[in-house]
Amino acid sequence: MFRIGVACVVLSVISGGAMAEAPAERGGYLVNTIMACGNCHTPRDTDGKTIPEKAFSGGMIFTTPAFIATAPNITPDVETGIGSWSDAEIKRALVQGMRPDHGRLAGAPLAAIMPANFYKALLPDDLDAIVAYLHTIKPIRNEVADPVYKAPARRDPYPDAEAGFSKTMFVEPVGRGAYLVTIGHCMECHSAWSRGVSDFKNGLGRGGRIFPAPDGSPGSIAANITSDPTAGIGGWTDREIARAVTEGIGRDGRKLRPPMAYGFYAGLKQADLADIIAWLRTVPPLQ
Ligand code: HEC
Ligand code: HEC
Repeated sequence: MFRIGVACVVLSVISGGAMAEAPAERGGYLVNTIMACGNCHTPRDTDGKTIPEKAFSGGMIFTTPAFIATAPNITPDVETGIGSWSDAEIKRALVQGMRPDHGRLAGAPLAAIMPANFYKALLPDDLDAIVAYLHTIKPIRNEVADPVYKAPARRDPYPDAEAGFSKTMFVEPVGRGAYLVTIGHCMECHSAWSRGVSDFKNGLGRGGRIFPAPDGSPGSIAANITSDPTAGIGGWTDREIARAVTEGIGRDGRKLRPPMAYGFYAGLKQADLADIIAWLRTVPPLQ
């Protein structure tokens, strides 16, 4: 903390006080907090903790009826990562879920577990910032297994991402919160889910989706996070919601389980967390 403070003073002297956030810094903030890319793309140790020295070098394996896919190496390593991709190609993967027309599985769509249907909401500045940050990651050589597709890729359109965002919508906390919740794909996990399809229209935030643990144990069930006072979190204080999101502690003090990215959300700025909570308060109650 102290060191960061000193660096800020020095920088603000150099830049005459006007200190705009550098794009890579903004990108790093998004990637390592609300978007939690490393929750999927970083390998884990035997305790299930992400390994910082191997950040973004490829990680989780997802086995579903539609595909078996490993979160790829997204470090700038030229051979095993995305070091040979142009910025436009990286952006296309992020917001359209499409691979480049060269290299591994050229031109093939990415499995829907990569949340491109939410990332399409990214404002152009934020998309640029994320790409700028990805260029700063340490290249790591690590080859991941090719995916196996058993059904065509299908992405459930998320209404707020389809409608899009603009900076004028960020005047109100609820507008800023809606954007963060969208790029954080919170409602992908927390909405009603049946036969592999999200029901954002009738089941937004209702919970119930089951996440099996990687070791085969029962895993977790996504909670109802609508504003319903009993079934949802309508009766929780802001402090209780903030604690659940950033510390992974339930209202009753229970330790919440994966796959929610509590450790990443811990780095959220207080103001962003407040905006997210403001938006959650607007989710219509559902039993
Ligand atoms: C829920 C898990 C998950 C999250 C969160 C996630 N990804 Fe992915 N991502 C995947 C998976 C799985 C694939 C590969 C899908 C396939 O092989 O069909 C992928 C593919 C990619 C690819 C294509 C790489 C390649 O070699 O084909 C890029 C680039 C990428 N992700 C970047 C990101 C970034 C940047 C973020 C955060 C802003 C992110 N991902 C968040 C799971 C995730
Ligand atoms: C990858 C799936 C996933 C994502 C993404 C996700 N969550 Fe969760 N969340 C869960 C699961 C599963 C639980 C329940 C964990 C348990 O009961 O042990 C949970 C629990 C919660 C809780 C506690 C509710 C309760 O009744 O205990 C809150 C609040 C919450 N999530 C909010 C959010 C917000 C806000 C976001 C986005 C910033 C988010 N979640 C993103 C899966 C997810």
